[in-house]
Amino acid sequence: MRGRFIALEGGEGSGKSTQAKRLATALDAVATFEPGDTSLGAAIRAVLLDPATALLDDRAEALLMAADRAQHVVQVIRPALDSGRHVVCDRFSASSIAYQGYGRGLAPERVAELSAWATGGLEPDLTLLLDVPTEVAATRLSTTLDRFEGAGEDFHRRVIEGYRILAAHPAWVVIDGTGTIDEVAVAVRAAVRDRLEL
Ligand code: TYD
Repeated sequence: MRGRFIALEGGEGSGKSTQAKRLATALDAVATFEPGDTSLGAAIRAVLLDPATALLDDRAEALLMAADRAQHVVQVIRPALDSGRHVVCDRFSASSIAYQGYGRGLAPERVAELSAWATGGLEPDLTLLLDVPTEVAATRLSTTLDRFEGAGEDFHRRVIEGYRILAAHPAWVVIDGTGTIDEVAVAVRAAVRDRLEL
């Protein structure tokens, strides 16, 4: 039996990385993330997040994210699903649509097409959006900001608005991410049980 594929999405400081790890443990699933969870991806991630990477064109940024994802799907995600393991991924295609599309201003549908091509059409069975207002999220960030974290308040507001548009899709559930780690974990676990019977 093929495993189920769950993606966690959210803006900076939404707590999704913590929740992705907890959910993976609870489901005995493979925990993975984007960008950067292959050796090619680690090199791509370093370039993408480094504030010293100046003048990176928006399309080049989108293509680097897509390259990371293509490698990640082939090397990590598909083999795990095919072997019957569940996979919990901290960010997937929707991150590109939210950040490079709504955030940077590339056409969201073009970014979605690029990502669909990169993944060979692989889509999560369920995507959980950890929704946290930008003001709350800002208080959770460290003082040294990476290239995305330092992209400015308007950028991050557009990203979150983009996510809320994407979350209207039936394969998404929006989780209120403002509670404690334990409270949010309970909501995440309940959504997975409810939607995927896992
Ligand atoms: P991540 O490691 O999840 O950082 P954080 O825990 O701070 O959310 O992701 C790194 C950054 O990459 C994050 O700022 C979002 C950005 N990103 C995109 O812009 N597009 C993408 O497709 C992905 C996967 C990430």
